[in-house]
Amino acid sequence: MKSRIALVVVSLVLSLLIGLTLRRGAGGDASGAPKRPLIGLSMDTLEVERWQHDRDLFEARANQLGADVMVVSANGSDTRQVRDCEALIANKVSALVIIPHDGAAMAKAVNLAHEAHVPVLAYDRLILNCDLDLYLTFDNVRVGELQAQYLVDHLKGRKARIVRLLGSKTDNNAFLFKQGQDNILNPAIARGDIEIVHEDWCDGWRPENAKKILNAAITKAGRDIDAVLCSADILSAGAVQVLLEEGLAGKVLVTGQDADLASCQRIVEGTQSMTIYKPIKNLATVAADLAVKMARREVIVARQELPNGKINVPSIFLPVHVVDKDSLESTVIADGFHTRESIYKK
Ligand code: GAL
Repeated sequence: MKSRIALVVVSLVLSLLIGLTLRRGAGGDASGAPKRPLIGLSMDTLEVERWQHDRDLFEARANQLGADVMVVSANGSDTRQVRDCEALIANKVSALVIIPHDGAAMAKAVNLAHEAHVPVLAYDRLILNCDLDLYLTFDNVRVGELQAQYLVDHLKGRKARIVRLLGSKTDNNAFLFKQGQDNILNPAIARGDIEIVHEDWCDGWRPENAKKILNAAITKAGRDIDAVLCSADILSAGAVQVLLEEGLAGKVLVTGQDADLASCQRIVEGTQSMTIYKPIKNLATVAADLAVKMARREVIVARQELPNGKINVPSIFLPVHVVDKDSLESTVIADGFHTRESIYKK
């Protein structure tokens, strides 16, 4: 009882210090009942729309399974994210779920967790060079392939000039998206169907960097561009602003990823051509299932693996879907990810 009180006090103090939120599911553990597992969720950021969905769905599922979740968000700071993880470990979480801002920097958090015998699940983004226990993500190479294939299919018949806005170099996913895009683009470039007139990495996945890079591309290569291959919706948000300022919006194909509400609205307006819908509910639900199993020290079977520089990490990849104006209804709306009214602003 004493230690439980101590734990609550530590929780409260740390909550005040680092903005930690502990959400207890309905009917928290009454004394005498089996202990509810406590799961730590350390997030890169909550500024980008998609990650708010991830958090809410993860918590809801974990609570449903009888676990509590302690959530922290690092606002894109590596120092803060390591500190967040230390705080979660000090709060005696039984499993740690990390969405790393920087896949290399977070190896430190995995090592610290292991010293405290806490297993770690990397959520959506890989953590590099450590003995990571499990990686759950979408098929990120496929995301890049679908984005590039959309452009190849819709740019047929012209020698297309493309600007490519790549993701953040601190995020291993950014390289997987590029790899998928290259799988499709390289043969088209070799055939002479496509030319990449400019490309660059968007530091921190920031829309303002996407704007800078697209402006630089237009200065360098001119306004005669056919498509902007954006690796994610947060980048297409910046790109479309530039295209609007240049009077090119709606005339240039724009890709994305995440099916953010603003992107779905742009698809309806015609300023963005497509996005990739990654059923976050599926990811968050499976992640919560796995995290609770980890917390209860149950066996987990992962049939795939991905090298992280140190080991082949047991991995699970989930499928993704293309969304354009013809498939909004059958994907994001049918799944309840967004309402028809919010997308069509009616
Ligand atoms: C990636 C993630 C994408 C996108 C991007 C920017 O790691 O897989 O879905 O959200 O980060 O936040």
